[in-house]
Amino acid sequence: MPTAANTLEHHWMPFTANRDFKAEPRILVEGDGVWFTDNRGQKILDGSSALFCSAAGHGRSEIAEAVRDQLLKLDYTTSFQLGHPAAFELARAISALMPKAMNHVFFANSGSEAVDTAMKIAMAYWDAKGETARTHFVSRERGYHGVNIGGLSLSGLPNNRKAFGGVIPGVLFLRHTWLEENSFSRGQPGAGADLAEDLARFVDDHGADAIAACFIEPVAGSTGCLVPPKGYLERIREICDDAGILLIFDEVICGFGRLGTPFSMEAFGVEPDMVTMAKAITNGAIPMGAVAVRDDIYETVVDAAPEGAIELFHGYTFSAHPAACAAALAALQIYEKEKLFERAGQLSGAFLDSVFGLRDIELISDIRGIGLIAGIDITPGERPGARGAELQKRLFANGLHIKFTGDTAVVAPPLVSDETHFDQIAAILRATIEDMPQ
Ligand SMILES: Cc1ncc(COP(=O)(O)O)c(C=O)c1O
Repeated sequence: MPTAANTLEHHWMPFTANRDFKAEPRILVEGDGVWFTDNRGQKILDGSSALFCSAAGHGRSEIAEAVRDQLLKLDYTTSFQLGHPAAFELARAISALMPKAMNHVFFANSGSEAVDTAMKIAMAYWDAKGETARTHFVSRERGYHGVNIGGLSLSGLPNNRKAFGGVIPGVLFLRHTWLEENSFSRGQPGAGADLAEDLARFVDDHGADAIAACFIEPVAGSTGCLVPPKGYLERIREICDDAGILLIFDEVICGFGRLGTPFSMEAFGVEPDMVTMAKAITNGAIPMGAVAVRDDIYETVVDAAPEGAIELFHGYTFSAHPAACAAALAALQIYEKEKLFERAGQLSGAFLDSVFGLRDIELISDIRGIGLIAGIDITPGERPGARGAELQKRLFANGLHIKFTGDTAVVAPPLVSDETHFDQIAAILRATIEDMPQ
C-alpha cells in the first residue's frame, strides 16, 4: 500500500532533502539478512549495512530476544551512582577487543556523543595533569565526527558546518589524504605518508604543549572511504608521542569487523589512546556509542578527584541503557560465533574485485576500497551532489540501497553478505550508472 504523502510531513527527516523525499518517498517496512522490503513489496539489497550498522544483517532474532528479556527483567536504570550487570559485562567484552592497556569504557548513545565524550575526557585528562594550555584539537579535512557541537567542530565536511558558525574554536585541520596520483588504489595507497607532517607543523606553530588530542578516522568513511596512505598513521602516532598529544581513533564505521579485524587499528598496526565506536556495536538494533580509554587516562582523571567525589562530570540519562547493553552483548556473541570479522577479511578480495570491476564506467572518476568498504566517485553533474542524489534514487528504484555523500557512493555490505550479493551490487550499480544522463 502506498503511504499517503500527508502522513509524512510531520517527520523532519535527518540529512534528507525533505521536500524531495516527501514527493517521492522510499519507505522500508522489513529487514531480513541483507535484504530490505519496501512498502510496495519490492526487495532492496542493502549495500551499505543501512548506515554502516547492520554488520550481522537485519532481523537477528538473538538480538531481539536478548533485548526483550532485558526489558522484561530490568527495563531501565540510570547509570549515575547505580549499575546493572549487563553494563559491566559489556565494558569487559569491549575491553577484550582493545589493546592490552585500554580497559575502560564510557557509554553514550551515538557516534556523535561518543566523539563529544572523548573530547571531554581528553580535556579532563589534561586538566587533571595541570596541562591547561592544551586547548587545541586536531582533526582532518573531509573528516566526519558526528553532528554535536564538539564533533561538528572537528568536522572537515564544509556543508555540515556552514550554517553553524559558532563551533568550538581552536581546531586545526590536517589536509585530507585524497591524492590524484593514488586514483583507483586498492587497499592502502602508496603516496601521501608525508601529509602527516601537517601535524608536526601544528606542533611547531602552536607549541608541543598546546594540543589536547588528534582525532582521526583511520579510514575516512562518510566522506567516501579514504584509506590512509602507507606509513601515514604510523607517522601520526610518532608525532603524537613526541608532543604528548592524545591520539583518538574514531572507529564508528570501521569498528566491529569492517576491515577483517575487530577494529581497524589492528589492520593498520597502530594503537591510539582512545577509540570511539557506535553503529555496529549493537548491529544497529538499539542506539549506542562508546569510548574505550587507555588505563592511565582513566586513572589520571579518577585519581585527581577527592575520595568519594564524582570524577568526570559527564554522562547521559541513557548511558549504558540496559536494552542497548543487551543488544550489544548479543551482537558481540553473533560476531564471535559466526566469525564475522574474519569473514570480512576473507571476503574482501572478492568484494574489491567486484567494485573495482566498475572502473571502466565513464562516469566513475575514482574507486577506493579496503576490507568490506569502498568509495566510488561519480563525476559531478550540474551542481555538486545533484548527480549522486539522482543516482541514489535510481539505485533504490532498481533494488539497491547505497549510502551517498555528495557524488560519492559508499559501499559497505553487511559482513554476512556473500559473493553473489557483491555481484548483484556491482550489476545494479553498473546498469544504473550507465543509464544515467551524461
Ligand atoms: C566516523 C564517525 N564518527 C561519528 C559519527 C556520528 O555517529 P552518529 O550518527 O551515530 O552520531 C559517524 C557517523 O557516520 C562517523 O562515521
